[in-house]
Amino acid sequence: MTRIYSRLEKILLPFKTLVIIGSYWGDEGKGKIIDLVAPFYDAVARFSGGAGAGHTLITELLRKFIGHLIPCGVAHKIMCFLARGEFFDLARFIAEKADAFRAMDGKLPPIRIDRQSPLWTPWHPIYESYIEYVMGKKKVRTTGKAIGILSGFAKLRISLLVGHLFMDEKDLRALLRILYKVCKPNFDQMIEEGIIRKRDVPGPDKVAKYLLKMAPEIKDDVIDTSWALSNLWKRGKRILLEGAQAIGLDPQWGTYPYVTSGNCTAAGAALGTGLPPEATTNIMAVFKILPTRVGAGPFPSEVWDRDKAERWAEKHPELFEEGRTRNRFLEKKLAKINAGTATPAELCQYFMVLGDERGATTGRGRSIGLPDLQWLRYMIRINKPKFLALTRFDMLSGVRSIQVVTGYKLDGRRLKPDEMPEPWRLGEVEVITQTWRCWSEDISGCDSFDELPEGAQRFIKRLEKALGVPIVLVGTGAERDAVIVRPTA
Ligand code: GDP
Ligand code: IMO
Ligand code: MG
Repeated sequence: MTRIYSRLEKILLPFKTLVIIGSYWGDEGKGKIIDLVAPFYDAVARFSGGAGAGHTLITELLRKFIGHLIPCGVAHKIMCFLARGEFFDLARFIAEKADAFRAMDGKLPPIRIDRQSPLWTPWHPIYESYIEYVMGKKKVRTTGKAIGILSGFAKLRISLLVGHLFMDEKDLRALLRILYKVCKPNFDQMIEEGIIRKRDVPGPDKVAKYLLKMAPEIKDDVIDTSWALSNLWKRGKRILLEGAQAIGLDPQWGTYPYVTSGNCTAAGAALGTGLPPEATTNIMAVFKILPTRVGAGPFPSEVWDRDKAERWAEKHPELFEEGRTRNRFLEKKLAKINAGTATPAELCQYFMVLGDERGATTGRGRSIGLPDLQWLRYMIRINKPKFLALTRFDMLSGVRSIQVVTGYKLDGRRLKPDEMPEPWRLGEVEVITQTWRCWSEDISGCDSFDELPEGAQRFIKRLEKALGVPIVLVGTGAERDAVIVRPTA
């Protein structure tokens, strides 16, 4: 790691803060990148999302940890904050902290939670399932962690906040009664329609008891995280700001209504932490070489049908296990891809298996798309990243060529380079593609850009030129050290 860190230092040292965001529809490898850069920071704050996110990191001892709520700097013993922009689920947090404790051999840094983050109750997922039920075929296919409801109740000004757990019990119960009263007509309808049973809905007293039993576990860690972060920033401390999801899932800039409900763009870093916008202008956008999407919603460069991809992954767990069956499957499919005879289904299946593209939170198969320059240019327009981190670049090794989306056409007109149509028409765009040659060599052990095969170098330079932002990190595997650092000139 020494060489990697010394190259990283040159890139990161000038910037006291760094915001890390996703570029497509999530699962780009934000967790790994955060874990990689964390040693250069004194603190890390998650500014958005909630338990629906799943950020994977592989520790030095090759242990896997998935951060749903806890930021990925946790493996480096730097101060961790769950900032105000993050939706908080107490039971899941306690379980995840225990998980982190095991993965990090009992050495955890302080983990602070914002006192004003919206708080999950057992009513939230019931309400979410009601909305998904009403939407029927148009449902969002959420992660089931009630993110939309947490956000919605907060916007309606009837949410419980984390700090409410520590106020006078009678005030807490009064707030719970209001929330219950708002939810009840929908719950009654669900009971009447046989979607849930009466006993599935706890009353306010039961919910109060449930939450208050767990509250002491976090009492000493609940603070005003904005105050703490602001003090660190003013003292010149270095802060890493961890985003969740990605622009495609942002409620304003993504493919509404097929989105999550936290702020996924770089602007969310200031909103979610209380740091001033001027503290959040150094942005690194993470993009995976082949975008993926889970749940519902448009995905212009998608290779195969989403539902079919998901069902297929579910039906073939054996192909996702290391071993001969998997290797033979990959060999056969790759031969067909390179012979130009693979169907879109086979192309998708090859990359799903190769990359173990299954959700870190839900386990659902992730549907694969082609590299999409039109989307990335839009992402760059909204976020203006200083740097790009390209992950999963190893997925293209051995593939002769790949189609790259260079533009969209709608109603016979080619859209401007960073233009995006209304989300409800995004499914109608015709993608314009170009064939880009790849390389045949394995790149997993490559330590520097110069060590990469010529074809891989050319691919990166071509991407960089098309996007106009330096690609400073290139992921070549899931492990912490499987990365190439490219210092900027
Ligand atoms: P996040 O939600 O953006 O943090 O991403 P996830 O953790 O949900 O999914 C990314 C997956 O890709 C994880 O399984 C990572 O271990 C893996 N990963 C990250 N970077 C690379 C890479 O460069 N190459 C490969 N092969 N896997 C990677
Ligand atoms: P990370 O941070 C990928 C998707 C869900 C669904 C939609 C709304 O790991 O990249 P929600 O439960 O948030 O209301 O679901 O968003 N989704 C994600 N997809 N990665 C994530 O997080 C996601 N978080 C939510 O599948 O389509
Ligand atoms: Mg994820």
